[in-house]
Amino acid sequence: MLISKKMNEAINRQICYEFSAMLQYVAIASHFVGESLHELAAHFYRQAEEERDHAMRFVKYILDAGGHVQIGDIPAPRDRFKNVEEAIQLSLDQEKKVTEQISQLVELAIKESDHITQTSLNWFVNEQLEEVSSMDSLLKVVQRAGEANMLYVEDYVSRHKTKSGVPMAGTT
Ligand SMILES: [Fe+2]
Ligand SMILES: [Fe+2]
Repeated sequence: MLISKKMNEAINRQICYEFSAMLQYVAIASHFVGESLHELAAHFYRQAEEERDHAMRFVKYILDAGGHVQIGDIPAPRDRFKNVEEAIQLSLDQEKKVTEQISQLVELAIKESDHITQTSLNWFVNEQLEEVSSMDSLLKVVQRAGEANMLYVEDYVSRHKTKSGVPMAGTT
């Protein structure tokens, strides 16, 4: 096995966090469908797909490293929101939390002189920069628009897409 037992367990926990983020985004997207905000809904379904991809990258990493994949309990996501801003704020908070979790994995890798894991985590570090930054932009757009102008937000989301559907930071 190329990774320590402790690192294996830490990455198993991260798999749960990524699946948890996936479920939260499915719940948020579904909420937006209910509000007839279809661009926002599509955006959050895509975000959910990305979180699934993150979880599966960690699954593959553990298997490549000869470790054991153990998926623990995943909490139910929140499914009711006062307004759009509250849902986007929750998403931003979640992305910041995941960034902190990834940083802790990097710190463990450094502590264990585990260069293979540390290098593999670089992709996630860069991904979190993109995720926090694009969610932060979206929150600002939502706050600027106000609840009465959600069609402006829909327009923003539909126009500011990267290949994966994530609004580009700094293009508002
Ligand atoms: Fe993620
Ligand atoms: Fe994310």
